[in-house]
Amino acid sequence: MKILVTGGTGYIGSHTCIQLIQAGYTPVIVDNLCNSKISVLPRIKRIAGHEITFIQADVRNKEAMVDILQGHDIDAVIHFAGLKAVGESVEHPLEYFDDNIHGTLTLIDAMREAMIKRLIFSSSATVYGDPASVPITEDFPTSATNPYGRSKLIVEECLTDFQKANPDWSITLLRYFNPVGSHPSGLLGEDPQGIPNNLMPFVAQVAVGRREFVSIFGNDYPTQDGTGVRDYIHVMDLADGHIAALQHVGPKAGLHVYNLGTGNGYSVLDMIHAFEKACGKTIPHQFASRRSGDIAECWADPSKAKQDLKWSAKRNLEEMTADAWRWQSTNPQGYPED
Ligand code: NAD
Ligand code: WQD
Repeated sequence: MKILVTGGTGYIGSHTCIQLIQAGYTPVIVDNLCNSKISVLPRIKRIAGHEITFIQADVRNKEAMVDILQGHDIDAVIHFAGLKAVGESVEHPLEYFDDNIHGTLTLIDAMREAMIKRLIFSSSATVYGDPASVPITEDFPTSATNPYGRSKLIVEECLTDFQKANPDWSITLLRYFNPVGSHPSGLLGEDPQGIPNNLMPFVAQVAVGRREFVSIFGNDYPTQDGTGVRDYIHVMDLADGHIAALQHVGPKAGLHVYNLGTGNGYSVLDMIHAFEKACGKTIPHQFASRRSGDIAECWADPSKAKQDLKWSAKRNLEEMTADAWRWQSTNPQGYPED
């Protein structure tokens, strides 16, 4: 089966391509390389043992997408392509709405023309806003606290309406919690441009000497140690969640929504201490004020995915930090330019 993977040279997309190949699928990558490098491709090839089809294109280009979908005989689409930095989305909301909303709508339109009716969409736990309690189940109320989150929420709503009007389509919304870690080979990993927004790439860059210390945003939250608590999930487990969705949702028509998280919450201090163990160094850190828009705690109830998709996260905190360190220590500056 051929799977179009939009955003396939990015962090989660590249790891998912490896797991797709392992599971016997043929991924075809489309990416405009706005937040990833072409040098990811030979690494995927090295792990997979063969070439992978790559097309440099923008999902907002409908004609190009129709050509690709038809020309490569695609059976289903996994749509990762989009912009994901919360702070940047506050400064440049239009760019986020254009890439994330217009991009997805254009892709759906192209799929409709090419008569491909199976989509898996990368959504986010951000659609739960500030949840009233934890763990979070899929039926919790949704809301947006920033333009990035709004773009995911609007796309979810558009896809829900679209599926209602087109009941023979199979659309799966996967709400990721906090992806971390890397492929165990150390060949693939997270390579943020500029100063990392997310905790774990920042910690990894401190460990490798690229940054001086980690600022911990708030130590006065109502959590066990006062720092924010999140559901960190190994990116390989997240990748496996997509394979499970392909296998167990299959072409079954409907709108399917799943949390992809571990069900465990770890604090910022837990994560720093686990990383210290993995890298054998002390990670200098300082307490700073809370980051605007942050919530105290957020973790998933992943039981729906376990029941329906026969999927649950397998890799523990030790593997998340060990794999992240292997990637960062062997690629201190991330992927090469080309
Ligand atoms: P990433 O930036 O590493 O990957 C996204 C890829 O999409 C990049 O390679 C980029 O070049 C490409 N892209 C962006 N706009 C495009 C366009 N218009 N046309 C073609 N390619 C385009 O991000 P990621 O962490 O791999 O995230 C993948 C998806 O998962 C995103 O939709 C993101 O919003 C979602 N998500 C990510 C996280 C996270 O913390 N990483 C959490 C929840 C959801
Ligand atoms: C985790 C914890 C911070 C950096 C974001 C998006 C979300 C999703 C995942 C895409 C929090 C603390 C962080 C630092 C810190 N992305 N922190 N110092 O905020 O849970 O989620 O990424 O969909 O939409 O909002 O992840 O990694 O930024 O933060 O203390 O330098 O680490 O306050 O408690 P977050 P994060």
